[in-house]
Amino acid sequence: MKRIAVSLFTAILLFSNSYSQFSKQARDSIYKITVGDYQNMLSQLGITSVRPGVSGMDPKAPDYANYDESKANPYPNLPDPLVLKNGKKVTSAKMWWKQRYKEIMEDFDREIYGRMPQQIPKVNWEVTEVKNDTVGKFKVITKKLVGHVDNSACPTIKVDIQLSLTTPADANGSVPVMMEFGFIFPPGFKIPNSGNKTKELSWQEQVLAKGWGFAILAPYSVQADHGAGLTQGIIGLTNKGQFRKPDDWGALRAWTWGASRALDYFETDKAVDAKKVGIEGHSRFGKATLVTMAYDSRFAIAFVSSSGAGGAKLHRRYAGEVVENLTSSGEYHWMAGNFLKYGGPLNAGDLPVDSHELIALCAPRPVFICSGEVGDAWVDARGMFMAAVGGGPVYKLLGKKDLGTDVFPKVETGLMEGDLTFRQHSGGHTSGPNWPTFIEFASRYFK
Ligand code: GCU
Repeated sequence: MKRIAVSLFTAILLFSNSYSQFSKQARDSIYKITVGDYQNMLSQLGITSVRPGVSGMDPKAPDYANYDESKANPYPNLPDPLVLKNGKKVTSAKMWWKQRYKEIMEDFDREIYGRMPQQIPKVNWEVTEVKNDTVGKFKVITKKLVGHVDNSACPTIKVDIQLSLTTPADANGSVPVMMEFGFIFPPGFKIPNSGNKTKELSWQEQVLAKGWGFAILAPYSVQADHGAGLTQGIIGLTNKGQFRKPDDWGALRAWTWGASRALDYFETDKAVDAKKVGIEGHSRFGKATLVTMAYDSRFAIAFVSSSGAGGAKLHRRYAGEVVENLTSSGEYHWMAGNFLKYGGPLNAGDLPVDSHELIALCAPRPVFICSGEVGDAWVDARGMFMAAVGGGPVYKLLGKKDLGTDVFPKVETGLMEGDLTFRQHSGGHTSGPNWPTFIEFASRYFK
């Protein structure tokens, strides 16, 4: 069993790394095209040099990431989510929704994640397979779906979104569903049966044990995970294969768009209670999860695992991964082109908004921000906690409960009382150990 679990983990790791599933030749070509795209964006912005990122690998390297808390807050002042650009205080929910929410959204659109095009072709969902199946001891019905994006305006670029939906076979009526940004395994692959010790249930089994369903969205079928792919996928399709403009959307915003289209489908499927669809993702997909929750208010709850830089972590922190990593040629494609400025002529302290305001955009809906500890320092748990604290006032303004403290909690001590919650498990870079805590949290909303 252990062996299977390990190889499953390895498979996920291999798939999750943006390059490793390609041959050396393909990697070289992706790299070359990426560098060209990256250079194009720098020249559109008039940037001649960007600062290098820090390294997460070798503690002895001179550019090793900072983990010294006394150096971690070079820009201690965060923009106030409850002060308008004209200096007026936001004192009511109405002022939040009518004025401040829009200001913050505009800044995230233009500077951080990029704008979604105004016209995006329709997605036509096709159910390609319906199967009675089992997951562990649970009898389920699994649907495989493909979302064909209308490409009549640019037939050379094809986008087929891959989605799977699994619901309990014995459900009477629609059920809540947790959707993960993840991997759709090849036909015949079974999620390893983890035996009958409750402690070892896979997250899918834990969800099914509650009577809920789960869905998997394959983000790379929406948008590739490298700069070379920016002239393809949904970004390339809407651009007709041209380079992005500086405020055009990046991969994170594109993956988010894919999640919204999956939710469109769920709204048409009687097996799903579309008012109770949650979203979950880990690492780069943790980032995508938070962006999804911020941008699509139909999602009921979010499980944001180890999202780090570009996710829940404050950009203004100097700990673990930093802005200059996000603006490198390996990661800039996640973001708007404009974001590159903050790794070049500008710096993190110049950003008009920071991640506490991304969390605020999710309010009043429930959000769980979490990570591991040992082996997960790169995501800067404290920087994510500080962002959650900073988003709290908006939850309170909208009549909800924030974290309830600004004291960083001990590992394995969840701050789980409010609608905005936080926990660090003691393991590494994985969402696994936080699932039971999340499910308890979600049970308060998925009655
Ligand atoms: C890298 C990257 C992170 C990202 C992670 C992943 O470590 O620096 O920002 O979250 O990959 O998604 O696996």
